[in-house]
Amino acid sequence: MRRELPALSATGATSVQVDGVDLLSFHGCGYLGLAHDPRVRAAAAESIERFGLSGLASRNTSGNLELHERLEQRLAEFLGTEAALVLADGYLADIAAAQALARDADRACLDQAPVALHDDDVHPSILDALASSGFRAFGYGAGDMSHALALLDLHKDRAPLVATDGAFAMHGRLAPAAELLRHLPTNAHLLIDDSHGVGVLGRSGRGVVELFGLDDPRIVLTGSLAKALGSGGGFVAGSADKVEAVRRRTSSFAGTTALSPPLAAAALTSLDLIDAEPERLERLRANVGQLHRSARRVGLRSTGTFLPVLRITMESEDAARRLSSALHVEGIFAPAIRYHGATGQGMVRCAVTSEHTAAELRRLEEALVRHLPEGSPGG
Ligand SMILES: Cc1ncc(COP(=O)(O)O)c(C=O)c1O
Repeated sequence: MRRELPALSATGATSVQVDGVDLLSFHGCGYLGLAHDPRVRAAAAESIERFGLSGLASRNTSGNLELHERLEQRLAEFLGTEAALVLADGYLADIAAAQALARDADRACLDQAPVALHDDDVHPSILDALASSGFRAFGYGAGDMSHALALLDLHKDRAPLVATDGAFAMHGRLAPAAELLRHLPTNAHLLIDDSHGVGVLGRSGRGVVELFGLDDPRIVLTGSLAKALGSGGGFVAGSADKVEAVRRRTSSFAGTTALSPPLAAAALTSLDLIDAEPERLERLRANVGQLHRSARRVGLRSTGTFLPVLRITMESEDAARRLSSALHVEGIFAPAIRYHGATGQGMVRCAVTSEHTAAELRRLEEALVRHLPEGSPGG
């Protein structure tokens, strides 16, 4: 019997093994295939030789490795920020950033709870970060700038934090970051979780900040190292004083074990490879184009055509599971997923990487032609 959630027994950049069978895969967020690059794996293996598997302590005690510091310098250079700090994962990075920003906002709010505004579609890590850091949080409609501006106007005296994903991979849209900044009070901050933009968007893969040409000390960037960088861990990046505030004054940084050494070494190598091999990003762009052209050819309304993710929305979770199973029988792994915030609808998520070949993408298109039910709105 096929399980609802298949357990993968092996993975490659474009393949998975399920129940002993190799499948062509369009899953996950390894958009640049770096998790399986031999040089990235070798860097991780070498750091295991030097340090073992774990940081074994918080950075503030005895877990601070020169590897962490090199990764932070490299990330800041890559992202074009004054400083960066790495944490055990991207979820924690959002919490750490919010904790630091809440302390800042506290002062502006004169003992009232600090205020945060956020896009309704933000990742749950942002919602949890705002709630656990004591913000009074107000959602504005998904990408709804006039709602956001009305809330900004209402709370302008409270130096509201505005928090958003940079790229909403599950919704196929980008944050209107430039416009948000234009209306943000000078003493307020814009928290951008660019987990899905870093390595993917902008001329050289720096993310939404590069894509929109943003350079503003009010931006605090967070992200996961487990997506395009193919490693694990998270980061907070921005002005030196904000990053220092996270390092010195947040329990989420002080109270957690340092990023695992092989993950730090892998992320460092991935950043170098993104810069040394721009053809990787070019291949990804070509595949993103082919994916969304395929989607239109098979009759899907394809939005978010700049992102490496095609969301096939279906009338129900059952319908999504049926499509995923039919693809599975054809040797293709494109999981039916349940996403937070989704109501009743099902979704099959197809992600491309720089490592898929044109022939593999054609295989996906041909299988969709055979199995997509009439009238799927798609994504
Ligand atoms: C937008 C976004 N932020 C944060 C996270 C959390 O990152 P991590 O898995 O490294 O904790 C994710 C992961 O799914 C994400 O998609």
